[in-house]
Amino acid sequence: MPPSIRRREVIWGLLGLLGWSGRLAPGALASGDTEYLDLKQRISFSLSTLTEIWENRVFEAWVAARGGSDKLLKGLLLRVAEPTQDDTGLRAFCVYCPHEVCEVGLVIDSKTIRLDSGVVPEHPLIVCPCHFSAFNPLDDGVNISGPAFRGLFRFRVITRGDRIHITQVEKSALTLFN
Ligand code: FES
Repeated sequence: MPPSIRRREVIWGLLGLLGWSGRLAPGALASGDTEYLDLKQRISFSLSTLTEIWENRVFEAWVAARGGSDKLLKGLLLRVAEPTQDDTGLRAFCVYCPHEVCEVGLVIDSKTIRLDSGVVPEHPLIVCPCHFSAFNPLDDGVNISGPAFRGLFRFRVITRGDRIHITQVEKSALTLFN
């Protein structure tokens, strides 16, 4: 196990001893205090490529890390709802599981989700194939089961005209490379 992962597990274990549940972390992140980094180049798709709920696309994005080294992140863009005035209905998450960095994927079939993660789903979830952490794409990618200590790292998505743009990523996603 890489030392960075051991370190993270020790930290989250200590927080657990103090009574702080790992599930609080994504909620805290959603409170608006999350720091985002610009992507080196924004990723764009036509809006017409994601019209149906749960349609999705995988993408890759470069981000500049401290010390001048660029990191390549893989992401999953998906439509989770119809667009409204205040919400594009689109979400984008880094596909690397915060637990041990396996690649997560969207699972539509409820029986598969139940068998893999033990969660009885009301809608598709993002599930990690390694230790079956499950993440809720309708709730900012929050972790709802399994050993992941937080939700998925998020990208910022905007729409302009008939284009979808992925412009930024949570700064803390760079901890995946520690
Ligand atoms: S790597 Fe994803 S749950 Fe362990």
